Amino acid sequence: MNDYTSFAELYDLFYADFADDLGLYAGFAERTGGSILELGSGTGRVALALADEGHTVVGLELSAAMRTVAQQKADRAQLADRVEFVLGDMRRFNLDRHFGLIIVPLNTFLHNLTLDDQLATLNRCQKHLQPGGLLVLDCFNPDPAHADDDRRLLVQRSVVDRETGQTVLLLLSRATEWSQQLQEITYLIDRPDQHGTVQRATLQASFRFIFRNEMSLLLKLGGFDLKEVYGSYELEPFESGSDKLIVVATPA
Ligand SMILES: C[S@@+](CC[C@H](N)C(=O)[O-])C[C@H]1O[C@@H](n2cnc3c(N)ncnc32)[C@H](O)[C@@H]1O
Repeated sequence: MNDYTSFAELYDLFYADFADDLGLYAGFAERTGGSILELGSGTGRVALALADEGHTVVGLELSAAMRTVAQQKADRAQLADRVEFVLGDMRRFNLDRHFGLIIVPLNTFLHNLTLDDQLATLNRCQKHLQPGGLLVLDCFNPDPAHADDDRRLLVQRSVVDRETGQTVLLLLSRATEWSQQLQEITYLIDRPDQHGTVQRATLQASFRFIFRNEMSLLLKLGGFDLKEVYGSYELEPFESGSDKLIVVATPA
């Protein structure tokens, strides 16, 4: 579960140009100064953008294949002196250093499927933050309306593959177990080659979603003070209809 290896070579087809959240992290990086740790850094989308702006960044990633793609991009962009990608699990890493800012973009914190996993990750964050440092978690705001779409196969994104000129589809199907606050998402990438033969890659990912007040309790239990709550990457107030639950916390 949550092994992104099958998507390592495909992830950037859909997400390399996704930049909606980059301004948010650049803003927090300016606020905190010091080096930045990204948990679940994937193919380096966020870490590389921050390094490109002059910040020193470490990206921690569970999948060796995703990490390799990120490292290759860092080398190509000549950013390897400012960004380092390390293999590790957000629940049990020890880097022996402290950061001014720890970020967990794009719902990655929700890959913690049990309370023990959530608290273990918060504990690791606390151990790696400088005094006064900030933790920023970007989670989705659970929306019961999505239950209507459960188990339907939906087109999430489509892009034209520069190599073949063919359209590549990212499809997904959600299955939500509200009583457990668990959502299983099956992602499919259908990529035709130049002859039209489709290669299909599959990824199963699980998310344990978190409600706003549960997040306050969780952070408190994990030794953090919740400082700010936002509902969008533009830092709009958190409201019932917000897509996002973005929280900013400091060690208590
Ligand atoms: C949705 S992707 C986000 C990638 C990147 N942060 C971005 O914004 O483009 C989630 C990433 O978290 C990684 N991941 C999942 N569970 C993890 C864990 N326990 N520890 C570290 N990384 C994990 C996955 O391998 C994947 O690369």
